[in-house]
Amino acid sequence: MKKLEIKSSIGSSEIFVGESLANVSRYLPKGRKIAIITDPAIRSLYGNQFPKVDLILEIPQGEANKNLQSLDAIFEQLINAEFDRSSFILGIGGGIVCDMSGFIATIFMRGIEFGFVSTTLLSQVDASVGGKNGVNFQGYKNMIGTFSLPKFVICELNILKSLPERELLSGMGEVVKHGAIASEWLFSYIENHVADLKKYSMEALETFVYESIVIKSSVVSGDVKESGQRRIFNFGHTFGHAIEKITKMPHGCAVSVGMVMAAKLSVIKGKMKQTECDRLVNLLKKIGLPTSAEINPDELLDVMKCDKKREGDSVHFVYLTGIGACSVEKITYTELASLIRDLC
Ligand SMILES: NC(=O)c1ccc[n+]([C@@H]2O[C@H](COP(=O)([O-])OP(=O)(O)OC[C@H]3O[C@@H](n4cnc5c(N)ncnc54)[C@H](O)[C@@H]3O)[C@@H](O)[C@H]2O)c1
Ligand SMILES: [Zn+2]
Repeated sequence: MKKLEIKSSIGSSEIFVGESLANVSRYLPKGRKIAIITDPAIRSLYGNQFPKVDLILEIPQGEANKNLQSLDAIFEQLINAEFDRSSFILGIGGGIVCDMSGFIATIFMRGIEFGFVSTTLLSQVDASVGGKNGVNFQGYKNMIGTFSLPKFVICELNILKSLPERELLSGMGEVVKHGAIASEWLFSYIENHVADLKKYSMEALETFVYESIVIKSSVVSGDVKESGQRRIFNFGHTFGHAIEKITKMPHGCAVSVGMVMAAKLSVIKGKMKQTECDRLVNLLKKIGLPTSAEINPDELLDVMKCDKKREGDSVHFVYLTGIGACSVEKITYTELASLIRDLC
């Protein structure tokens, strides 16, 4: 097992890579009420390994249920079970469970402590690390939310064996992103271990998760509220979030298409060589991630304008300047409109 830490202006968080669900009770506070928040699939697969707690609550699966309405039933049950400000919430699940249970904990009684057992590759490398919690609102992704760090995140690797391949690939989209923006070493490691990924090799998965969190935690520690350096993690997401909304692809798959478009834009703007863009596209293809999608450019642009990171007529855009390096600069929607047909 490997341990990492985020120490930021809003608190700290300990991350355990390779710890098992069976040991989670060691991390839970003693003598306080504890609720597990999970989803039906995780509960049916792993409920028998859950620690003994006061309450187990389920959030319905799927992005369509990641909304404020789904929170009502959870708050009602917490109040009926007399949870108070000393209580603790343990989210066990993927990105949706982590985003929602973190949000619930942060606003229930003005905030109670929480922790995660992260069960998808995507949530281990991204969603559960970094303190962003929230829900979608009227079609806007993650529009209502908070910054608040879990006390701990347990990244259980064995649990990834039951993850459908499509979800594993979605998580790999974010792992490739981390290599592309910040670590040529990680990028090369992925290139050399695609076959191990398909075999769900624990050694390869541990490296993907650990190295991703090393990158993410070091940046998040210095800029937890994303006013500067943390923006680099939006690589592929300016297009990706809009593609996800239009096509309903899993998050990491939409990010994969978004990364290709962002890399092409980096080449068009003279920031990166075509050969490096090709290297990214080839790796995504080798993994089995999509590198293009049937999208109407006008619709894409319209949806992109709904980005919560929009600032007036522009948005901070993450360009690659090579494999393992990036830069962030503002781009106007007018300029994006003039280029979007070439990118789609
Ligand atoms: N907060 C952040 O910084 C951040 C970052 C990236 C993504 N996200 C959010 O994360 C969400 C996507 O997360 P996700 O991809 O984990 O999706 P998810 O939570 O919907 O999980 C995917 C599916 O896999 C199932 N599942 C989970 N773990 C499993 C396991 N071990 N075995 C078998 N099945 C399992 C779930 O029940 C679900 O049906 C999106 O809503 C996205 O916005 C948040
Ligand atoms: Zn993402």
